[in-house]
Amino acid sequence: MRLFILVVLLSCFACSTLPEDEHTAKPLALMELPDHFPDISFPSDNVFTEARWVLGKKLFYDPIMSSTKEVSCASCHDPSLGFTDGLAFSIGVEERVGFRNAPSLANVAYQPYLLREGSLATIEMQVLVPLQEHHEFDLNILELVERLKEDEEYVAMSLEAYDRPPDAFVVTRALANFERSLISGQSRYDLSINEGLSLTNSEKKGEALFFSETLACGQCHGGHNFSNYAITNNGLYLHYEDEGKFRLTNDSLDLATFKTPSLRNVAITGPYMHDGSIESLEAVIAHYAAGGKNHMNKHPLIQGFDISAEDEGHLIAFLQSLTDTSFINNKIFRDE
Ligand code: HEC
Ligand code: HEC
Repeated sequence: MRLFILVVLLSCFACSTLPEDEHTAKPLALMELPDHFPDISFPSDNVFTEARWVLGKKLFYDPIMSSTKEVSCASCHDPSLGFTDGLAFSIGVEERVGFRNAPSLANVAYQPYLLREGSLATIEMQVLVPLQEHHEFDLNILELVERLKEDEEYVAMSLEAYDRPPDAFVVTRALANFERSLISGQSRYDLSINEGLSLTNSEKKGEALFFSETLACGQCHGGHNFSNYAITNNGLYLHYEDEGKFRLTNDSLDLATFKTPSLRNVAITGPYMHDGSIESLEAVIAHYAAGGKNHMNKHPLIQGFDISAEDEGHLIAFLQSLTDTSFINNKIFRDE
């Protein structure tokens, strides 16, 4: 019995950091930025106000946005999954299946352009995409506006937020206002930068591997949001069904290129890649270790590397340290 107590004590002394699930970062207040995050710029016609945010949040969770009144933004961007849906391809109205994997909306305020080929410049404009897509909401914006105008609460909220009744301007602005507040910067990794939390040895080794020249992950997935936002090819296939940025430009150098995703909360945002074709982080690492397929546009940094099972475990531990439980559980973003 005494021996048992001693062992328990010893093992506790040995753990110099908190166990992974026990760190309790205080959720950030609305629009509060961690010290190591750059400022967010709001368009001059859509500066942040609480009334705008409240309206945007209501719309985000409201299936009134879809033709069948059954699907909301949150159906595909669920806060408990880091604002993704856990599916390879998202499902919209009438169970229609789309052709791309839903990206996380964490820190979307920092994305310089939206969608996987970067075809849209603002979050405001992006709102119109799911609205009209056949496999998403399949609803005309004018019809949505009619619905909102018939709802006293929406009319009052819209007047308060933008001094005008519901219209396309209000819908796109309010949703964007809400989305810009989705700040994720309280993961264990962030706390190790800001709050003196020490990462485990395994996480630290994983961090060194991630930023090493051999693995080169950090060269594309670097910066405070773990992305340089480059639209490039990471060698997933020789022949892609989805042509990526080529759809936009018809330039063969853009064939099968996709925006480099942020890796924040990556442990809970699978399946991975533009088509959700990779199920696990282990399989993602195996893809990069093998050097991918030799697509004509494959980025020269994707060369392949040797990695031991132990180091793979460290790299995964590091990627898991980017999970921000206080963001995911933050009640202010939830429909409660
Ligand atoms: C049926 C599922 C579905 C619904 C509903 C949906 N989305 Fe999405 N969302 C996606 C998919 C899939 C993509 C990626 C599309 C692409 O790249 O072409 C995406 C992309 C985005 C992006 C771009 C993110 C980035 O990093 O480029 C934003 C922002 C976004 N959605 C916000 C919203 C908002 C706001 C709503 C509600 C008005 C919404 N979505 C409704 C599935 C959905
Ligand atoms: C040349 C730039 C580049 C390098 C180097 C790189 N990546 Fe990526 N990564 C990308 C691109 C581009 C995508 C998106 C591909 C797609 O959507 O099909 C991606 C996707 C991912 C995803 C999927 C994320 C998601 O939400 O779908 C993960 C995880 C990932 N990379 C991890 C890594 C790791 C770990 C390394 C190092 C071993 C690495 N990457 C190296 C460019 C790069």
